[in-house]
Amino acid sequence: MARVEDRTFICSQSQDAAGPTNNWVNPYEMKKQLRELFAGCMRGRTMYVLPYSMGPLGSPMSQIGVQLTDSAYAVVNMRIMARVGRAVFKLIDQDFKRVVPCVHSVGLPLARGQKDVPWPCNKEKYIVHFPETREIWSYGSGYGGNALLGKKCFALRIASAMARDEGWMAEHMLILGVENPQGKKIYVAAAFPSACGKTNFAMLIPPAPFRKQGWKVTTVGDDIAWIKPDANGRLRAINPEAGFFGVAPGTGERTNPNAMRTLAKNTIFTNCALTDDGGVWWEGMTDSAPAHALDWQGRDWTPETALQTGAKAAHPNARFTAPARQCPTMDPAWESSEGVPISAFIFGGRRATTMPLVYQAFNWSSGVYVGATMGSEMTAAAAGKVGQVRRDPMAMLPFCGYHMGDYFRHWINMQRRLSETPRIFHVNWFRKDQDGNFLWPGYGENMRVLKWVFDRVRGGGRAKETPIGWVPRHKDIDWTGLDFPKAQFEALQEFDRKAWRSEVLGHEELFLDLHSHLPKELMFERELLICRM
Ligand code: OXD
Ligand code: MN
Repeated sequence: MARVEDRTFICSQSQDAAGPTNNWVNPYEMKKQLRELFAGCMRGRTMYVLPYSMGPLGSPMSQIGVQLTDSAYAVVNMRIMARVGRAVFKLIDQDFKRVVPCVHSVGLPLARGQKDVPWPCNKEKYIVHFPETREIWSYGSGYGGNALLGKKCFALRIASAMARDEGWMAEHMLILGVENPQGKKIYVAAAFPSACGKTNFAMLIPPAPFRKQGWKVTTVGDDIAWIKPDANGRLRAINPEAGFFGVAPGTGERTNPNAMRTLAKNTIFTNCALTDDGGVWWEGMTDSAPAHALDWQGRDWTPETALQTGAKAAHPNARFTAPARQCPTMDPAWESSEGVPISAFIFGGRRATTMPLVYQAFNWSSGVYVGATMGSEMTAAAAGKVGQVRRDPMAMLPFCGYHMGDYFRHWINMQRRLSETPRIFHVNWFRKDQDGNFLWPGYGENMRVLKWVFDRVRGGGRAKETPIGWVPRHKDIDWTGLDFPKAQFEALQEFDRKAWRSEVLGHEELFLDLHSHLPKELMFERELLICRM
């Protein structure tokens, strides 16, 4: 049902290279253990050999993997999420491309004549990465993030280690394009932790008056970005994936019509409810629930029983797996092999307090600090305590294949290769008032924030300096078609000194964990922030 972070391992040669935020086991011991576990683990099942390319076939920014798996579910999902098949074998033969070997088993061998269970998995789970030899071994789980090895395991954990060695970046980021009525366009990459609305933001539909004026938002990717400086020192990004593995609950005609179009056909639904007419349903898909359904575990479900017991029809981390090409807003360049130029990074989390709707970091190193100290309330995408704030640097905490401090150093150093650094912003769509109501409507209205980002990037937008960065005043945001009271905007943007005091102490805790590898720049940034405050 979710990723298992406590069973996810980075087995680098030294524990120090994996850092304190990753689980580490000596690679030789782990291999020994895995060989024992994997011996005979596919008995009675079919083993599939799945060659795949992360990124457009043949792009210099793409990478190739071959996954062995005994899960048909993993195969059909990977067919949507990556470019798979014979063409990839051809590439391997032609270019002698380096291949990342990936082996996956649900870990439930079948005796002769034994009947299979619908969702085979083993109680014991190992999601293991060997960053130096670029290998992935995954045992015991059938869940997307643990079983579709091209996604989190390769495109983030292994790729982040490759990227560090080769001078590029593998990030947990959506990529979108914003075009103004005059046809000027920028691309933005944004990092939010899992289940914080990356898919919705990537497929944003501007409010009607913006659309009428000619503003357009296009989608390049919703989860992962591979980013590399080009020959002119500009950062360019590709989406290594070919599909969306989106969170279903909350996705509906009102919140994300583009996602609804995307998943209308050729889509796999996981842990959703099954309606009596053979369709699927989840909380938030429609305003009214079906009178009866089978819930995600196959039990009878009705809105009445749900009211009494709180039982959900769909698992909170239920997913749809849909081909990207079916999304009506895909950018014309989404499969471009050189990638799209990135003008801005946006970091964001789910925060009920403290963090304003939007602010802009002063410069690259203060922006890296903003990303590095990001926090978010935990969601259902990973097993753990939902709602608790945890530091999730660049939304990469569960996905960085090496020491987080070295990862920050890599971010700081990237500036040296760039002729122009993207501007860096932080957003929070989730701030609440004292009664627990959201202060910001979100969804399409996020266009207003995006427009301010666009203006700042292109040199037009106005802002006010505060201790944490540049913020828009009420008059700096385009309110066309929305009556948004100034007082409410001020509540949204409020810089709460007391809350920031504990925020900065939270940063310190993260820094203490990482101190031996922390770049000096980030310590100085922290000092400067405290002085300004
Ligand atoms: C995802 C995740 O599935 O971040 O994208 O968990
Ligand atoms: Mn993700």
